[in-house]
Amino acid sequence: MKSLSSLIKREINSPSPIREIMKMAEPQNIINIGLNPDDVISFGGGWVDHYAPDALIEAYKKIISDKMLFHRAGGYSPTSGFNETKEAISLYEKYLFNENLKSNNIIIGGSSSQLTIDLLRVLLDPGDSIALVDPTYANYFGQIKFVSDNIKVKTIRFLNEEWKYLSNKKEILSQINELFKDKNLKAMLIASPDNPTSQIIPEDFMKDVIKISMDSGTYLILDYAYKTQYFNDTYPDYFSFSPSDYENIITINSNSKWDRGLGRRMGWIEANEDIIKSMERMQQVSILCPDSLHQIAFTEFMKMISKNDLKEYVDKIRFDYKKAAKITTKAIEDHLGFKYLEPQGGLYVAVDVKTDSDAFVIDVLKHTGVIFVPGKGFGNSMRNGIRISYGPLVRYMEKIDEGIARVGKFLNGK
Ligand SMILES: Cc1ncc(COP(=O)(O)O)c(C=O)c1O
Repeated sequence: MKSLSSLIKREINSPSPIREIMKMAEPQNIINIGLNPDDVISFGGGWVDHYAPDALIEAYKKIISDKMLFHRAGGYSPTSGFNETKEAISLYEKYLFNENLKSNNIIIGGSSSQLTIDLLRVLLDPGDSIALVDPTYANYFGQIKFVSDNIKVKTIRFLNEEWKYLSNKKEILSQINELFKDKNLKAMLIASPDNPTSQIIPEDFMKDVIKISMDSGTYLILDYAYKTQYFNDTYPDYFSFSPSDYENIITINSNSKWDRGLGRRMGWIEANEDIIKSMERMQQVSILCPDSLHQIAFTEFMKMISKNDLKEYVDKIRFDYKKAAKITTKAIEDHLGFKYLEPQGGLYVAVDVKTDSDAFVIDVLKHTGVIFVPGKGFGNSMRNGIRISYGPLVRYMEKIDEGIARVGKFLNGK
């Protein structure tokens, strides 16, 4: 056989560290280690486990019971998505974040993962640079590599050696200012709430970053995968900013985490019209069109649900994750005594284990059957850190203390 592309040959040998640990935790490997797969407690998954809203289930039922609607769901949608679904998205953003979003600033895609790599293809040339936060979502590194291996990733450290997050905002802002002067730097990509730290970028800091990015004509990409999972009473002001207010801001949004739609793949980008048109051209070759069934279901769902009911649903969910986060941090204090970052949203606690995280995670798995994710894949600042995910345990909160207590017993008996 003739050889595969140099791109895949290079990338296949640097798989995601998260996937590697999840592979180690597969039942056969657990049995090989001498443990019972039923006793495994996993804090590894980057996913949510609450139930979808009843009105969404009703929306799918309506499609299935209506022959013509089901027929329509089997057809292609326009490449940028159905107009009615864009209007439903505007309403969703209005109800939840008081955002004033116009349909022509939206493109619907298959998921935020697909939209992110397509967006990077739209923005970046070989030789360009992109700024990322350290630590950050591990998949970004691979997504950038798959655009070109000649794109420079400039990381800006938000987590310092003492495990303080954004403790010296002035110094970090001046680094960002310097970086954005580089004409090859096209964009900065930030998740808020973040994976793996569950921090929300503070309003004043974000406003300064927006100003620096606007002044230098640099795109600011905000990944809002966890936008509805904020733990304070209020969300930061910038959650309501729309592309008509700031033409350099691009937001990536997803149905995965708010309504447990991880497998019902649908996401969208909010951006200025030039970016939307470019993304449409990109999607003509990457996905042709987003999934029609999920778009129609979302549209029907938004017709059925009132503002109050949607807010009530989202509030209940985010308070459940907040409770799971509290139980996790209490268990860390009670059984491990490690430093950690207090989650402000999202699904994770980043913990300082003060030793090489790859070896730590494997050692813990072998001796306790508890799965954590090693921090290295998220950036150098997390090389001695782990990510503990409470997201998958939101319906089994008693497992959180049980799992962390098991690890504490092992570490204290060493
Ligand atoms: C920050 C961040 N962005 C994007 C994604 C992927 O989301 P989607 O399911 O929409 O592709 C994840 C998944 O964990 C994530 O943590």
